Amino acid sequence: MKPSIFVTQLIPDTVKVYLENYFTVEIWEQQEVIPKETLYEKIQASEGLLTSGIKINEELLFQAANLKVVSNISVGYNNFDTDAMKKRGIIGTNTPGVLDETVTDLIFGLMLSTARRIPELDSYMRNGKWASGNDRHLFGLDVYGKTLGIIGLGRIGESIVKRSVSGFNMNVLYHNRNRKPELEQKWGVQYEEMEDLLTKSDFVIVMTPLTKETTHLIGKKQFELMKDTAIFINASRGPIVDEQALIDALENKKIFAAGLDVFEQEPINPKNPLLKLDNVVVTPHIGSATTRTRKDMAQLAAENLVDALIHKKHSNVVNELKTVVKI
Ligand code: DGY
Repeated sequence: MKPSIFVTQLIPDTVKVYLENYFTVEIWEQQEVIPKETLYEKIQASEGLLTSGIKINEELLFQAANLKVVSNISVGYNNFDTDAMKKRGIIGTNTPGVLDETVTDLIFGLMLSTARRIPELDSYMRNGKWASGNDRHLFGLDVYGKTLGIIGLGRIGESIVKRSVSGFNMNVLYHNRNRKPELEQKWGVQYEEMEDLLTKSDFVIVMTPLTKETTHLIGKKQFELMKDTAIFINASRGPIVDEQALIDALENKKIFAAGLDVFEQEPINPKNPLLKLDNVVVTPHIGSATTRTRKDMAQLAAENLVDALIHKKHSNVVNELKTVVKI
């Protein structure tokens, strides 16, 4: 008999067909997020769960006596309670690599649209306010040739570096847990202590994963260190930034602007003051959301599940459990 798996969201047909070669597959096909009670009922018999963003915690695991593998359709895995999973011997996987260039596209979109104030000026024109050809108050900031500081230099970070250096002639600084001499050599990027990076950069981009250590890594003190012309970009995870401190910095013009794809609360509360500020460009956590990339992510997540449950092979496992793994 084929093992049963449950998929908490719509996936491309090709991925569904691939999974059906190995598993009895049940999919939550509604647009809205699966209600907790339904999820708990569905996972009782499942050995595998294919998902993104659903919190994998003790409460859920208590309902999932047969579960062995949770395969995330995302590179981030802050939805995993890794201690609870370890106790139960459940492995978790993610989808690195396939989304790097797509997320980088969005980050450049946010950099360009904040620096050149594109959404603000789009509304300005639509509201019939374009009065003369040389409105100095419409001027923005350059991107080309400026200094970019990246906090967290992983795979996506490297893809940002590549474009910043080769396409935009930028001077790139980075701060990371470990220095990356090979990237320093290859791209001429320069390691800096956090405070120096914040002081020197025209664009500050956070690309760290969300962990206990990186929660509110950027707050009041960090915004105070930035230039008043600095642009802050976050397309990683919202809670890495103290959002109230960011709002204060933007309202008080302590920094020039922010480009944000992620927020402390998602979906964002429509009353969030960030949505009222002209010097903020927002997108609804769509860094990896192109049709091709989301398909590639779903396929990779499906392959991770097949490797773990069928081939007894660990691919893209983020919580290596060594001897406790049940598969
Ligand atoms: C990721 O893969 O982590 C992206 O943020 C999409 O969730």
